[in-house]
Amino acid sequence: MTMERHLATAQAHPNIALVKYWGKRDVELNLPAVGSLSITLDRLCTRTTVRFVPDRREDRIRIGGHEDATAAARVSTFLDLLRQRAGVAWGAEVESTNNFPTAAGLASSASGFAALAVAGTRALGLDLAPMELSELARRGSGSAARSLFGGFVEWARGVRADGRDSVARPLLGAQEWPLRVVIAVTARGAKETGSSAGMRRSAETSPFQSAWLDHQDADLAVARTAIARRDFAALAEVAEHSCLKMHALALAARPGLIYWNGATVEGLQRVRALRRAGTAVFFTIDAGPQLKAVCLPDAVTTVAQALREVPGVLEVIECGLGEAAALLDEAGAAA
Ligand code: PMV
Repeated sequence: MTMERHLATAQAHPNIALVKYWGKRDVELNLPAVGSLSITLDRLCTRTTVRFVPDRREDRIRIGGHEDATAAARVSTFLDLLRQRAGVAWGAEVESTNNFPTAAGLASSASGFAALAVAGTRALGLDLAPMELSELARRGSGSAARSLFGGFVEWARGVRADGRDSVARPLLGAQEWPLRVVIAVTARGAKETGSSAGMRRSAETSPFQSAWLDHQDADLAVARTAIARRDFAALAEVAEHSCLKMHALALAARPGLIYWNGATVEGLQRVRALRRAGTAVFFTIDAGPQLKAVCLPDAVTTVAQALREVPGVLEVIECGLGEAAALLDEAGAAA
């Protein structure tokens, strides 16, 4: 029934990298220069409905109720991949909503392209396995490859030129080590330099690029082991290191990329102070000013309270670890 109408709805959650992806080995295929490792969040979510209209050629794309030409062009380019695969030239109607700010370092492109890959392929009657969907979502936004899965996820760099081996895989389910994430929102606007442009500038001008590439596999191995052993202190150490190293790489580009504001820096100092005082928490920051604090469940109230008190923090969002991207039925329940 749904397939006959070429219609499907999917939901996906953003993910936050603990060992960061920064740099591409192939821009066209969106292949990463390094592997990465993330956690998928539960509360934040993108819901996307895709409907293909066989007798139409153009796409109509609304994100958060608005038509934005730049975002629409990116979505249409992605839909072309799906159309190619299905051998059709149908136009699509896409309606996508986030329950959190778009393009401000909260990984809206990750959940957005993961939901679009799941809904778009189903609307065309394509039946892809999760790893194939991960490969496809990667073409929209690198980190979207990871949002196909829940819990702890690793996205492989891969070595193949065609990218078939650069897909994500789940490492550990959300319930198997239920960490909490406290997000301190410190700005609401879209970021100045998007991640793709930032990665390009870092690779072309930062003197630290080769050191960044050289140490990633070791960081991934440490993080993998820490997760397998539920060793919070070891994960905290490597995750903060990876975050600060990615930002050091970007800061040393020309012109330097400064994704932080004052509240971001104040927040990370607070997280460090909490940890020194015995609270199981660490921070991470992506290509935007929001600070994410990852903690054990019993620390979440303390962490949220401490971050709420940081001057410049506009809002604090508490999340747990979330599940994989999924199709939804017409009532909005998991299909
Ligand atoms: O998926 P993109 O192209 O928006 O890149 C994401 C880059 C970081 O969020 C900074 C790091 C990561 O691994 O998610």
